[in-house]
Amino acid sequence: MKDIQIKKLIEAEKNRQKKVINLIASENYVSKDVLEALGTELTNKYAEGYPAKRYYGGNEIIDEIEILCQTRALELFDLAEKSKGSQDRSQAGKWSVNVQALSGSPANVAVYLAVLPQGGKIMGMSLDHGGHLTHGHKVSITGKVWKQVPYGVDKNTEMINYEELMAKAIAEKPGVIVAGFTAYPRVVDFKKFREIADASGALLMVDMSHFAGLVAGKEYPSPFEYADIVTTTTHKTLRGPRSALIFTKKGVTIASGEKGEKKEISSLVDKAVFPGMQGGPHMNQIAGVAVALKEAKSADFKKYAKQVKKNAKVLAEELAKRGWRIISGGTDSHLILIDTWMEGKKNEKGAGAVAGKSASDKLEKAGIIVNKNAIPFDTRPPVDPSGIRLGTAAETTHVKKEKDFVKIAERIDKILKGE
Ligand SMILES: Cc1ncc(COP(=O)(O)O)c(C=O)c1O
Repeated sequence: MKDIQIKKLIEAEKNRQKKVINLIASENYVSKDVLEALGTELTNKYAEGYPAKRYYGGNEIIDEIEILCQTRALELFDLAEKSKGSQDRSQAGKWSVNVQALSGSPANVAVYLAVLPQGGKIMGMSLDHGGHLTHGHKVSITGKVWKQVPYGVDKNTEMINYEELMAKAIAEKPGVIVAGFTAYPRVVDFKKFREIADASGALLMVDMSHFAGLVAGKEYPSPFEYADIVTTTTHKTLRGPRSALIFTKKGVTIASGEKGEKKEISSLVDKAVFPGMQGGPHMNQIAGVAVALKEAKSADFKKYAKQVKKNAKVLAEELAKRGWRIISGGTDSHLILIDTWMEGKKNEKGAGAVAGKSASDKLEKAGIIVNKNAIPFDTRPPVDPSGIRLGTAAETTHVKKEKDFVKIAERIDKILKGE
């Protein structure tokens, strides 16, 4: 690279990534093949439109890449008509996928744009209980154009209370119910969400951004039997480049436009992505996603997903043993939420009284990267909340096992206790 300034910065960031222990739950390390696909001439090509329906010439190879990416996305989650090596055939041939959304947030916005009129209600988990900004939070466009009906977790269990959710949905009648979170460590009962959506007349959208890799590795329940729409980022547990996928169930229709004609949600979503929100797709990114999806179908990836979960369990248990309060008492995924503040008091094991910002700063100084995070019913402000969020996806890619996570827990404990 001739640009020395940028080259140096890239090298510096590469070294930083090698040096630290990365426990950011939403990050991962892509393979060399994914990086290679990203840095190719595919970035030069304009391809507005969809395969065989482009607004520019010269797209015959681009079409093949986009179709391959779609096929691999459907195959990975056992949705393709003829999935190779598929165990679960129940959803085969029933889904479409759009691979053009540039990232998770635009993917979610595109869904609402497709299926909800302005001012329509999105029932999503509130940010401070673990939802994402794009689930209708007021600072996001999703809370400005549409209206959030927030739900949270139960104060005692710190898990979703499905009865409360049902009552709220029936009372509020949202257009879309969103299941899927940024900081909720437990499994989600998608069947219950389906019942709630049916009882309230809503579409069920699952945002599986965080746990998509675990679903692919059969380590987390699949939402496809129950959802109408499934969105996901491709760069968290799924270990691909930054991008997103939007899956829509075939045959699901809604009244749309001025005449209220029934239209398939898959075609409404395609139109919302392009031309509704975006112009030309980023074809180098789509090729990188295709590479990652093939990798995620491998036996190695299944082992990886299993290890991610085992590591998270060990990390949570080891921290709990040392006195730290794990939100909801544990984890069923790659993600752990820890109350480091514990109402400002230290317990008999010396854990507690460290606010989230201070916890994350102290850990960063020692080379452990995490993010400060609100806990449910947090009494502290978002800039310095009561907890931190940890995840095991990135370090499991760096082949860390349970014994390594015991050591990581020991270090975290010592650093937070100032030892
Ligand atoms: C559940 C969920 N949805 C959507 C997003 C948004 O993804 P992006 O940052 O790619 O826009 C995130 C990102 O953290 C997320 O956790």
